Amino acid sequence: MTDKINELLRRVEEFKPKAAAEIEEFRIKVLGKKGELNALMEEFKSVAPELKREVGQQLNRLKTEATQRINALREELQQSAAGEAGTSDDLTRPGSADGLGSRHPISLVRNQIVEIFSRLGYTVAEGPEIEDDWHVFSALNFPPEHPARDMQDTFFIEKNPDILLRTHTSSIQVRTMEHQRPPIRVICPGRVFRNEAISYRAHCIFHQIEGLYIDEGVSFADLKQSLLYFAKELFGEQAVIRMRPSYFPFTEPSAEVDVSCNLCGGKGCPVCKGTGWLEIMGCGMVDPNVLKANNIDPEKYSGFAFGMGIERIAMLKYGVKDLRLYFENDVRFLHQFDQAL
Ligand code: PHE
Repeated sequence: MTDKINELLRRVEEFKPKAAAEIEEFRIKVLGKKGELNALMEEFKSVAPELKREVGQQLNRLKTEATQRINALREELQQSAAGEAGTSDDLTRPGSADGLGSRHPISLVRNQIVEIFSRLGYTVAEGPEIEDDWHVFSALNFPPEHPARDMQDTFFIEKNPDILLRTHTSSIQVRTMEHQRPPIRVICPGRVFRNEAISYRAHCIFHQIEGLYIDEGVSFADLKQSLLYFAKELFGEQAVIRMRPSYFPFTEPSAEVDVSCNLCGGKGCPVCKGTGWLEIMGCGMVDPNVLKANNIDPEKYSGFAFGMGIERIAMLKYGVKDLRLYFENDVRFLHQFDQAL
């Protein structure tokens, strides 16, 4: 009997649990109702009377030892768990930073373009996206049968009188001429809408920046020099421009402006389709009919206008091959511009 008691005592002393559940299991096995201690108590009944005193003391010692050991082990485990929790509450640990948003590449490029022209004395003008025929077409010398007035190109909201989504921000220039007298020097950024099939190079919504400069004695040379300055500021000192004759109803003469390809330095590459040139905008001298329609004397004043698509400029500047990326707002795309500009 004494041997059994000592054997159990040794097991109690050597017990090393890893989890609270293990302690509870051990407690039930040793001290529980049908546990080993009670089994020994049962056996105790049949111990010879002369040994009862000694064995009884041994049994009592075993019971206290086992209870104390189990309580001590429980406490130990609780403390180390609290210790671990304590490390996660460490107030001196650096926090996990919230991810910051970034500017959209279209905003970045628009801001940069605005900034360049503001150095030349231009101020920003804005206007409504829902427009009437006068501000988008008629005041800009569009003949009545011009294809841009067609449903194919323009989103009409109402017909007769026509209410439509502006197809270019030239409408803001008309609104500026309505309430401002020359000298006028404005830059007009904004969203425009055209009924075009969406593809890698076209969208039914895109962004433009147009400019208008009207004063006495403004010449084509002023236009060319302003745009060359702009191209060098935006694409780098090495940039050069060329102008090709073109046609717009509101300018005469009109030109299309190309900038030397900033990817191949003008040698020819897939982006510039081997030509060394990238088309960036339309421009021209404001047609006298437009000045007249806006009550500005074409004998006294002359001016130039230019307009460009921001998506296109951003594509050329950052080498983006699909215009739709600007509208999908996939953060993996947008985060590439975190450090831009
Ligand atoms: N309004 C023209 C367009 O939307 C661009 C332009 C503006 C061309 C000014 C010449 C002068 O395409």
